[in-house]
Amino acid sequence: MTGYLITVEGPDGSGKSTQAHLLADHLGALYTREPGGTELGEKLRDMVLDPNGEGLSDRAEALMIAAARAQHVEEVVRPAIEQGKNVVSDRFIESSVAYQGHGRGLGPEEIFDISIFATQSLKADLIVLIDVDAPLAANRRGKNLDRIEKAGDDFHSRVMSAYREMASEDPERWIVVDGSGTVAEVSERVIDQVQVRLGKYEKD
Ligand code: TMP
Repeated sequence: MTGYLITVEGPDGSGKSTQAHLLADHLGALYTREPGGTELGEKLRDMVLDPNGEGLSDRAEALMIAAARAQHVEEVVRPAIEQGKNVVSDRFIESSVAYQGHGRGLGPEEIFDISIFATQSLKADLIVLIDVDAPLAANRRGKNLDRIEKAGDDFHSRVMSAYREMASEDPERWIVVDGSGTVAEVSERVIDQVQVRLGKYEKD
């Protein structure tokens, strides 16, 4: 039996990375992240997020993230799930649809297609959205911002709306968790809902 690919999504400042770690620990799953998760992916991540990298074009950004994803799937994600290991990825395809497709305005369909090319059609089995309102996310982001965090309020509100729209269009695959409250409170919500969903889900 192959393992599950569970991804954790949310805007910058949602507390998603902490929650992805806690979920992976709870499930005994492999934690990994995007962009990153491989040597190449981490180098691309540094370039994409460099706060001084103002000259990077939106399309180059989209393709660098897709390149990191291709390497991540081939080197880490697919081998793990093929060995029956569950994987929790801190961001995956839906980040690109939200950030590059909607946030940067490059078009969700084209960005999705580029990701599908990168992953050779591998998609998440389950996507956990950590849903937070804009003021809470902005507050949690703090002041030391990377290149994408600095993209502005309108950009970040397009990202959040895109996530909510994707989740409402595909409720079978998405779990929406209220990201307000303490780390422990949010983690309990995440773990409860993931367990309910995995209990209903049979994989071959
Ligand atoms: P993180 O700090 O939540 O790990 O994410 C790194 C940043 O990269 C975050 O601002 C979102 C951005 N990002 C995209 O814009 N598109 C993507 O496909 C991914 C995976 C991340």
